[in-house]
Amino acid sequence: MTETAPASAMPSRRADTAAGGDSTERLGADELAALQLERLQWALRHAYDNVPFYRQQFDAAGVHPQDCRSLADLANFPLTTKHDLRENYPFGMFAVPQEQVRRIHASSGTTGRPTVVGYTRNDLDIWADMVARSIRAAGGRPGHKVHVSYGYGLFTGGLGAHYGAERLGCTVVPASGGMTARQVQIIRDFEPEIIMITPSYMLTLIDEFRRQGIDPRDTSLCVGIFGAEPWTAEMRTEIEEATGIDAVDIYGLSEVMGPGVASECVETKDGPHIWEDHFYPEIIDPITGASLPDGEPGELVFTSLTKEALPIIRYRTRDLTRLLPGTARPGMRRMQKVTGRSDDMLILRGVNVFPTQIEELVLRAEGLSPHFQLVISRQDRMDHLTVRIEADETTTLEQRQSAPTVLTKAIKDAVGVTAEVCIVDPGTLERSVGKLQRVIDDRNG
Ligand code: DLL
Repeated sequence: MTETAPASAMPSRRADTAAGGDSTERLGADELAALQLERLQWALRHAYDNVPFYRQQFDAAGVHPQDCRSLADLANFPLTTKHDLRENYPFGMFAVPQEQVRRIHASSGTTGRPTVVGYTRNDLDIWADMVARSIRAAGGRPGHKVHVSYGYGLFTGGLGAHYGAERLGCTVVPASGGMTARQVQIIRDFEPEIIMITPSYMLTLIDEFRRQGIDPRDTSLCVGIFGAEPWTAEMRTEIEEATGIDAVDIYGLSEVMGPGVASECVETKDGPHIWEDHFYPEIIDPITGASLPDGEPGELVFTSLTKEALPIIRYRTRDLTRLLPGTARPGMRRMQKVTGRSDDMLILRGVNVFPTQIEELVLRAEGLSPHFQLVISRQDRMDHLTVRIEADETTTLEQRQSAPTVLTKAIKDAVGVTAEVCIVDPGTLERSVGKLQRVIDDRNG
């Protein structure tokens, strides 16, 4: 009975989306809260009635969907983790019969079983609507050509971006990741206005443009929609200066849907607005699990409000951020740009270090390329961090010689760890073709 999302969740705004944004993204706070509560009550019931895992969890915690009378009551329900999804591999978290599942995606994860997610027809429609809304917020319009360099396949990036761009009325170029020289040729020949790509792969493309003797500022591209990995304000500046485009941030995760859970508006570029009519955010203390008020930093938790195939209740993303008031879309809260995940955090001699903290400093350094890698090893039973940074063709001998001392000091001052900085020759570090693995941990090797 409860398998189908409430009527208010039905994706029937296609023409609206193409014309000028959909009506719900501009709801006032009270209307949005009422919509969220109605949808949340449905989502909790749907999960409880159709997924044994949730029924057990709720029962064990002594809560029932009927106990949710206000949005604040959600905090009484148990949290869900990636481990729970893995334990129920492959389809144990699905809430609809398999015949209603139209698509499956999976995230590989670094270890163990992949996390499997599924979508009904409605889920796919809403996902396309949310990505269309995100592209529109970035400045995309019907008729634009969108070059999608996110990987196609089990990863949600490629197909998620693809159907959203089509939904908005754009022309999609499904380039997927890899074959970088050909990507450059396609961009030159097809003249897209928009590119959707990881920020690290964009750096690889910028290099390839230059290698082919093309100034990356001389392309048809106006907007880049970057996500799938953490990236800093310094990286935004680097990409915008190299290409002359507007670089905006799109956030998402497969367990909650894929790209388009939240996205940045080009007019403000002040962190992704969360599409709260479908994904309800909370911030918790990552250690105690306690709910934190808006504005406080902590771990982002999401509850899906309309998903049918894989309802997700209070999912711990591991992403660290804070919730901020809406700006360009005043009804919807923003999240501060995610600059780290709790499981990306390195602990070096007891000091917590996020790779993005190093990225900030490397990109601020004079005369070096934006390509760098972190290598952690053990020396004399102590953790040792080496930051390898590539020089580029314009790096002077003097810059090469002075950079290690300058950066070691900057890292010590800002992050609190002692790092050895090595400047390496252009083209020696591995390039990204999707999500970049920046850290090499040789401590157990
Ligand atoms: O990366 C979905 C996606 C595809 C988002 C394309 C945006 C663009 P997963 O593979 O499940 O899904 O990885 C999700 O990636 O929990 C974050 O840690 C990280 N992430 C995604 N977007 C951003 C972003 C896709 N804009 C995990 N900034 C998330 C920082 C991001 N981290």
